[in-house]
Amino acid sequence: MRILVTGGTGYIGSHTCVQLLERGDDVVIVDNLCNSEASVVESLREITGRAPTFYPVDIRDRDALEAVFAKHEPEAVIHFAGLKAVGESVAKPLEYYENNLSGTLVLLGVMRAHDCRKIVFSSSATVYGTPASVPIREDFPTGGTTNPYGTTKLFLERILIDLQKADHRWSVALLRYFNPIGAHESGKIGDNPTGTPNNLMPYITRVAKGVLPMLSVYGDDYPTPDGTGVRDYIHVEDLAAGHLAVLPKLDEPGVHIYNLGTGVGYSVLDIVHAFERSTGVKVPYRVVPRRPGDIAECWSDPSRAETELGWKAVRTLEEMCRSSWNFEKSKA
Ligand code: NAD
Ligand code: UD1
Repeated sequence: MRILVTGGTGYIGSHTCVQLLERGDDVVIVDNLCNSEASVVESLREITGRAPTFYPVDIRDRDALEAVFAKHEPEAVIHFAGLKAVGESVAKPLEYYENNLSGTLVLLGVMRAHDCRKIVFSSSATVYGTPASVPIREDFPTGGTTNPYGTTKLFLERILIDLQKADHRWSVALLRYFNPIGAHESGKIGDNPTGTPNNLMPYITRVAKGVLPMLSVYGDDYPTPDGTGVRDYIHVEDLAAGHLAVLPKLDEPGVHIYNLGTGVGYSVLDIVHAFERSTGVKVPYRVVPRRPGDIAECWSDPSRAETELGWKAVRTLEEMCRSSWNFEKSKA
């Protein structure tokens, strides 16, 4: 298949490109490199033995995107490109709405002009807001997002649903990711945030490496078994496989919504202990007050994806920890 991957040099995009290249697809990446490095393209070639075509293009640049479509005429788009830092989105809402909404609107306009009506969109469990109960099913209400980043995901889901309603030829997959962690087994690609990480696993690996002194555990007074927040951590390679699994579904026009998670919740301290067990490296931590906007627990019911797509997360928490650490150690 000829597939355009926006944000393909980023964390989840690069792992998905590995699997697309390995199965023989023609992969075209557009990424403006605002949160990734061009060197990822070379890593993809080293891992798979095949090079994707790469354009350092901002998806808001209609002319540049138009030229990419004219040259490659993709059959489907996997759309990862977007800004994703929750805290930054609170401080810079206009930048987040502008990048994520305008970028996607430009992309959809160019797709339509080229008769390409198949799109896989990176959504997030954040669209469920504070769920009434766990595990979360796809038919749970969405809304109640607590930050502009989450609201861009909610709005974009809505825009895509409206678009499909107006033109039934579109096939839209909304993939709601839970908490991706881990890295490719080669150690050549992984989650590599610039500056101090906001998310748990990259913070842990930097503490383990000695780059940061100590993990702050945000609250141990949640109504959870050990008092710390519970999430559904999924290996990024399993998450990437979910994108390949949904592609055949795009032959059926409609809106296809799937949770991509494991269905198992782990607490912050579970993760710290699993990391220590599987790597042999200590992670010093202290408990600090809750982080504003955090919820107590969030995990998925992933059974729809298993029933309809035959996809299931298979990698263990130990593999997630070990591969994250392997990537951190491999970095210069
Ligand atoms: P990432 O930042 O590593 O990758 C996103 C890529 O998009 C980056 O390489 C960045 O340079 C690029 N990009 C951003 N704006 C762009 C633009 N205007 N034009 C072209 N390229 C642009 O993030 P990720 O973790 O790989 O996330 C991928 C997608 O999945 C994002 O949409 C994110 O919101 C979503 N998501 C991520 C998580 C997570 O925990 N990582 C959870 C839920 C949803
Ligand atoms: C966050 C975002 C979510 C986004 C996802 C991926 C919020 C409220 N949600 O999810 O919208 O899709 O990142 O970017 O920000 N923790 C610590 N110490 C740390 C870091 C995290 O204790 O230094 C705890 C958190 O309180 C939480 C768990 O670890 O209980 C996971 O946090 P994180 O990795 O940031 O993911 P989420 O908050 O679930």
